Amino acid sequence: MSIVLMNGEFIPREEAKVDIEDRGYQFGDGIYEVIRVYNGKMFTATQHLERLQTSGEKININITYTVQNLTVLLEELIHRNSLHTGIIYMQFTRGESPRNHAYPIETVPPTFVAYTKELERPVTSLENGVSSITVEDIRWSRCDIKSLNLLGNVMAKQKAVEADCYESIQYRELTVTEGSSSNIWIVKDEVVQTHEANSFILNGITRRKIVDVCQRREITIKEKAFSIEELIDADEVFLSSTTAEVMPIVAINNVPVGSGEVGIITRKLQNYFKEEIFVECGEIE
Ligand SMILES: Cc1ncc(COP(=O)(O)O)c(C=O)c1O
Repeated sequence: MSIVLMNGEFIPREEAKVDIEDRGYQFGDGIYEVIRVYNGKMFTATQHLERLQTSGEKININITYTVQNLTVLLEELIHRNSLHTGIIYMQFTRGESPRNHAYPIETVPPTFVAYTKELERPVTSLENGVSSITVEDIRWSRCDIKSLNLLGNVMAKQKAVEADCYESIQYRELTVTEGSSSNIWIVKDEVVQTHEANSFILNGITRRKIVDVCQRREITIKEKAFSIEELIDADEVFLSSTTAEVMPIVAINNVPVGSGEVGIITRKLQNYFKEEIFVECGEIE
């Protein structure tokens, strides 16, 4: 039986219900996080939970738990579901209140839900790389908030699926921003580059880890937006996310990236990333 964490209580999934006037349900008025679990241990949990707090602060949702409290609760959730390899999904909404666009006048407690899901590492795609397409970024300009409002992302991902691709690479006025659920990277002349962390992208936890790894391993890294032209002209392209790790992109709009094979630096970063996982969670296959 699957157990979920709802407003601080561990309950069977079938018993977890939200009201039709929950603001998350009606307005997408809430925030979320996804944390990777390897060998029953959370990877970069503190960074995810701190980002959750920051997203909450940006839209005035008061996360009534500390990072430490949440860590303990999520560890218990993993334990109760005997999760070995997978993810924890969690969200906080602005709570239940009669429908009105403005925030409730009386403070209402946020609705908090967390659950686990088994999910293997995408080893075949990590080995061979994936295809992608470019799509216009039609989202709002606060993509730094990990908000439940994901319609633009959902539509971009659907376009990728319909084109038989793994991910859409979004652009605003010819500048590449990010994937529908990932950050996008290029490698040109051994320099690794990704969009700077501003309000046009989500500052991925995987992104931050890769920046950190590059700095420690003396790989030149540039946090600066690049154009579609630079994307097409790159030697290597990859995406990063909690579930996809460092995922090579070997074709864009049906055209091979560089040689069409997974690039040397991408491969190096995959291995370094695996070492980071090893340090926190132990050996993975
Ligand atoms: C829009 C967007 N950008 C980037 C990312 C990558 O973030 P992270 O590495 O924290 O998973 C995600 C992850 O879901 C995302 O939805």
